Amino acid sequence: MKGVVLAGGTGSRLFPLTKITNKHLLPIYDRPMIYYPIQTLVEAGITDIMIVTGGRNSGDFLRLLANGKEFGLKHINYTYQEGEGGIADALALAEHFADGHKVCVILGDNIIEGSIRPAADAFRKQDHGAHILLKQVHDAERFGVAEVDGGRIVGIEEKPKRPKSNFAVTGVYMYDASVFEKIKTLVPSHRGELEITDVNNAYIGEGSMTFSFLDGWWTDAGTFDSLLRATNLVANSVKRPAEVEA
Ligand code: G1P
Repeated sequence: MKGVVLAGGTGSRLFPLTKITNKHLLPIYDRPMIYYPIQTLVEAGITDIMIVTGGRNSGDFLRLLANGKEFGLKHINYTYQEGEGGIADALALAEHFADGHKVCVILGDNIIEGSIRPAADAFRKQDHGAHILLKQVHDAERFGVAEVDGGRIVGIEEKPKRPKSNFAVTGVYMYDASVFEKIKTLVPSHRGELEITDVNNAYIGEGSMTFSFLDGWWTDAGTFDSLLRATNLVANSVKRPAEVEA
């Protein structure tokens, strides 16, 4: 399975922090944000990785990450998203890279404490379809929200005013190669973007979506509050007890 990190967009919710740089280059404690999703993929045994970037200072990704030596990689692939077409539009750029393989897609602002390895291993054995990771949250209206019935996901709503559950859809998505055909059938949402939630609902509609729950803490980092939360969560998990006391 190949990996795709989505790191485009203008990061407008973080202006002026993102006025002169890309959101995914901002610091989360002691590392740039994009280090965390790359590490999550590598830890799950996914080493053939493409970064989809865009917006401001995209050349900085190359200078920062180079060929991925810090992650034990020999090579990283890069592509550029023009405009603000949304997550599914960014993923469409990885079709040639995927070359018929399954892909594990991770949003560049998703920071995960635990491992996605069990889910990745299960999806490697899944014949076809997709797999998403859910997390119970207190502020579900900020996310894609899954309605689960009888052990199956029956639908996902993007940022609903009245969420039907508190199961947020995290930004880790595993797809078979049909994802690229599904993206071609999408129409832009009211915010003018191709929504990843519509891709996921297409898999749910054909009965091929599986899911699991993510262990450990999870956060996005695309707003001031979640950026701070991400920094605090990482800082508390990497500091050894002696350092915390000092
Ligand atoms: C995106 C997705 C949403 C998902 C979230 C996870 O939201 O649209 O379904 O729950 O990522 O981080 P965005 O951060 O683009 O608002």
